[in-house]
Amino acid sequence: MPEKELLVQKIKNGTVIDHIVAGKALQVLSILGVSGSEGKTITIAMNVPSKKYGRKDIVKIEDTYLSPEITNKISLITPHATVNIIREYEVVEKRPLELPDEIIGLFKCPNPNCITNASEPIETKFYLPSKDPPLLRCKYCERIYAPSEVI
Ligand code: CTP
Ligand code: ZN
Repeated sequence: MPEKELLVQKIKNGTVIDHIVAGKALQVLSILGVSGSEGKTITIAMNVPSKKYGRKDIVKIEDTYLSPEITNKISLITPHATVNIIREYEVVEKRPLELPDEIIGLFKCPNPNCITNASEPIETKFYLPSKDPPLLRCKYCERIYAPSEVI
């Protein structure tokens, strides 16, 4: 590979999330619950040229193996990202994302009258009544939202 294409180094161990929609890497880290204060090395590349699409983001989290339950949460904002598990420099697992059946405690319900927004807040819960296109239904007020309305 020509040197100019080696934008970010390969890692020895950890999780690489590749083919993230350009510009969404920081949102991906936020949904994954990774802040950087864990002390692991994190590399973020944003708006880099992609062979498949025009531009993409990449996130590499070293010495951390994220479970499918965690990584599948990002499918709402970047459904075509791939999760690569790296061990001793080799890709030992390549997972496409799957939409989860429900999402607990991650997003606020946009309905101001929803009980989850009352003075004593309740943990939110959204079901996915449709996956293509993805829709979110609040368990409490039963309103249905497009992901962009909730995230
Ligand atoms: N990667 C890494 N460190 C390694 C091995 C791979 O950071 N030791 C990264 C690569 O830079 C790439 C991703 O993990 O962003 C997937 O690697 P690989 O499967 O080798 O790349 P591609 O074949 O291009 O993957 P795809 O088919 O998913 O595009
Ligand atoms: Zn609600």
